[in-house]
Amino acid sequence: MAAPNGHNARPRVLCPEKLSQDGLALLRQTLDVDEKKGLTPEQLIEIIPDYDALLVRSETKVSADVLHAARKLKVVARAGVGVDNVDVPAATRLGIVVVNSPSGNIQAAAEHTIALLMSMARNVPDACASVKAGKWERSRLVGVEVKGKTLGVVGLGKVGLIVARMARGLGMNVVAADPYASAAVAAAANVTLVDSLAALLPQVDFLTIHTPMLASTRGMLSSSELDTMKRGARILNVARGGIVDEVALLAALESGQIAGAAIDVFTTEPPAPDSVAGKLIAHPRCIATPHLGASTVEAQENVSIDVCEQVLQILAGDLPRSA
Ligand code: MLT
Repeated sequence: MAAPNGHNARPRVLCPEKLSQDGLALLRQTLDVDEKKGLTPEQLIEIIPDYDALLVRSETKVSADVLHAARKLKVVARAGVGVDNVDVPAATRLGIVVVNSPSGNIQAAAEHTIALLMSMARNVPDACASVKAGKWERSRLVGVEVKGKTLGVVGLGKVGLIVARMARGLGMNVVAADPYASAAVAAAANVTLVDSLAALLPQVDFLTIHTPMLASTRGMLSSSELDTMKRGARILNVARGGIVDEVALLAALESGQIAGAAIDVFTTEPPAPDSVAGKLIAHPRCIATPHLGASTVEAQENVSIDVCEQVLQILAGDLPRSA
């Protein structure tokens, strides 16, 4: 296509979220990259017809409306694992390729899970706030040890397996439920595989979730499941908001059935303070972070380079790695 100045127009890439510059620099060699943060859904729909590629993390909702408004979009690239913020069936119908970075941030997500596990066990956020406020509350802030405790892992995929290995290193017993997990891989990691969530829940002192958000995992842990856990068990969710039902979790914290929750992901992000998730965050026995699982310098470089290389391949007419 000839541009008004007589040169061939360079393909255009829209990047509405913060992405590591390492990947964007690769794109800039041959493409025009526009970083436009804070677009409303309406603004995205208005400008998307001008773009050949769209690069997102988890905040931008790439809905069917956005995809239908696009005129020359060839690829939506998700700088992360989950593509649940992209309407993949609609993209497929429209011939738009969706790519992701299946492993660029798995170490970061696993390390954040362990950081939350230890922070919850030893009341680190509460203790930090207390000492910064000039208090010295040693008896109020007694924690629990994780060594010898049982960690339940729901989803023994890439992240779940790293978490399991780290937890074994901390001296925990690890039991996992995952219908797709290989028995040999679990055995090599010293993880006991059980055949269902129902079999897992009553055994664990800590439970961590590492499944994608699917119709089958939405609300997978609701009050009927939480009630089967040991009274005083603790729960972590660094996967996707809504896999643990937020209403049920808040009720279980309030009743003492669940002694602690460590939550990085919410049904709606950012959660409104007066929403159920907002109340969960405010609960004294819940520690929370703002979807930081993948937020390390290293992971952001990995996913950025990974998806930007795929965008270049697709715009050059080649097949992508992860589509
Ligand atoms: C992922 O799906 O990999 C993460 O949620 C990425 C992110 O934090 O944006």
